[in-house]
Amino acid sequence: MTTIGILGTGGLAALMVRGVQGAGYRLILSPRNAEVSARLAEEYGCEVAASNQALIDAVDGVFVSLPAATGAGELAKLTFRPGQPVLSAMAGTGLARLQSVIGPAQAAVSMMPGYANALGVGPSILCPDDGFWRPVLAATGPVIAFDDEAIFTAAATFGAFSGASFGFMAQVIGWFQAQGLPPDTARALVAATLRGNAEVVLRENRSLPEIRREVVTPGGISELLLATLEEHEALQAWDEGLTHVLRRIGG
Ligand SMILES: NC(=O)c1ccc[n+]([C@@H]2O[C@H](COP(=O)([O-])OP(=O)(O)OC[C@H]3O[C@@H](n4cnc5c(N)ncnc54)[C@H](OP(=O)(O)O)[C@@H]3O)[C@@H](O)[C@H]2O)c1
Repeated sequence: MTTIGILGTGGLAALMVRGVQGAGYRLILSPRNAEVSARLAEEYGCEVAASNQALIDAVDGVFVSLPAATGAGELAKLTFRPGQPVLSAMAGTGLARLQSVIGPAQAAVSMMPGYANALGVGPSILCPDDGFWRPVLAATGPVIAFDDEAIFTAAATFGAFSGASFGFMAQVIGWFQAQGLPPDTARALVAATLRGNAEVVLRENRSLPEIRREVVTPGGISELLLATLEEHEALQAWDEGLTHVLRRIGG
């Protein structure tokens, strides 16, 4: 059985452990954050290594979910085997930096929303494509691989887009609740609307302007809402925010 070590047992680790359940991997966790590792050991049968180095020595591949600010420095203290697959999910740590701190091991970088991956429906991006990591990530949702790291880095801003989408949903759900909808109804209405529309974009072979023409009736209520958002440059603000994120992660 393929063994995967997870270095950095925090929020993302817990979500990915849940996501890969049933895919046939043996999971070993780094010991720091005893509370999370004990819970994951109890709930999902993960093992806990005695140290970060013991984890690396015991596993086939290493998934790195250490804090973005300090993770590369921590990896530099450890010794990896030649060709050992190492996948980082740390925002802002590029391939060259990762490779420089893992020596002879085989570096790849990724990004994923996290929570949706726990449910098996979270997209992951991967650079470069990698036969070891692709099936691991595929157990948690669709995988999109990039050979060009600059394009991967631009795509990696979707991690922030994903997180921000919860702020957007909370805002709209709150508005419906303020109009008197029961909280569960408001939540279900907004989530089901977005899920349905996402399926339209995924499944229909038509351009976004064509779809928009179909659903936004001239003079209708969707056009009224869009006009209000555009008046406040609310849609363009997404571009500005994503550009800030891209600069932060090195694009
Ligand atoms: N959260 C997400 O959904 C998500 C999605 C995509 C990518 N990411 C990336 O994943 C990484 C982790 O994010 P997170 O949200 O999971 O953060 P987190 O909850 O803070 O988890 C990081 C874990 O690493 C542990 N740690 C710190 N230094 C360590 C060391 N030297 N050796 C072993 N463990 C150490 C921390 O322990 P302590 O708690 O004791 O400090 C903590 O348990 C970040 O780089 C982030 O960019 C996160």
